[in-house]
Amino acid sequence: MEDDDETTVTSKESLHMTTISRHSFSITDQTEKALTIQIIENMKEDYGLFVWPCSIALAEYVWQQRLRFAGTSVVELGAGTSLPGLVAAKVGAEVTLTDSSNRVEVLKNMRRMCDLNKVNCKVLGLTWGEWDASIFDLHPNIVLGADVLYDSSDFDDLFATVTFLLQNSPGSVFVTTYHNRSGHHLIEYLMVKWGLRCTRLLDAFSFLPSSKASNLSGNIQLVEMILDLK
Ligand SMILES: C[S@@+](CC[C@H](N)C(=O)[O-])C[C@H]1O[C@@H](n2cnc3c(N)ncnc32)[C@H](O)[C@@H]1O
Repeated sequence: MEDDDETTVTSKESLHMTTISRHSFSITDQTEKALTIQIIENMKEDYGLFVWPCSIALAEYVWQQRLRFAGTSVVELGAGTSLPGLVAAKVGAEVTLTDSSNRVEVLKNMRRMCDLNKVNCKVLGLTWGEWDASIFDLHPNIVLGADVLYDSSDFDDLFATVTFLLQNSPGSVFVTTYHNRSGHHLIEYLMVKWGLRCTRLLDAFSFLPSSKASNLSGNIQLVEMILDLK
């Protein structure tokens, strides 16, 4: 989060610790901000109403790869405050933002942020490992997930959903950022188990501009993976 860009909402919502943070994206070698996304956060809530560092890294990656994203169909899983998906929508992708079906306040917040940022994303309750009718209509070229690998009890449900979406849309790719706490072993184990193959592995600090990197800590990695058809 760029602290110097953050402003506090002065409505009665401030009683509930709601803030709007602003996240800017620039073209390399230009100081002028090319895009700013406004995110509604609630510091009192957990998980889905806070911009996690992995989301800042994934959003920056989407921005830097904006030509690749333009004109694609994108689904963001566990989107929470949805910064990567909102950037994808701004650069011309058709975006479906999803989060757990029972996180009604998170889904409601996504709709408010779509209005705030003047983008027309679909918002959908999608709980990992559950097969509501709506998931069968999703045919994304790119599946995004920022900080969705944090609770080991959810890993198989998450990967079941990811694998389903990749199978439902041949040629598609899952792009995720996560805190690497145990080397590459965890992600390798999950990819092998679910028949996926890594096509790109990056240290997020290798592509984050210094102004953002200096506000983040830890070991954040970005992985792209596809179905392993061999
Ligand atoms: C650590 S937060 C990350 C949020 C956002 N992607 C970010 O990086 O700022 C994890 C997100 O996954 C969602 N989530 C957790 N378990 C889920 C499940 N079983 N199905 C769908 N979403 C889930 C949470 O509601 C939350 O929005």
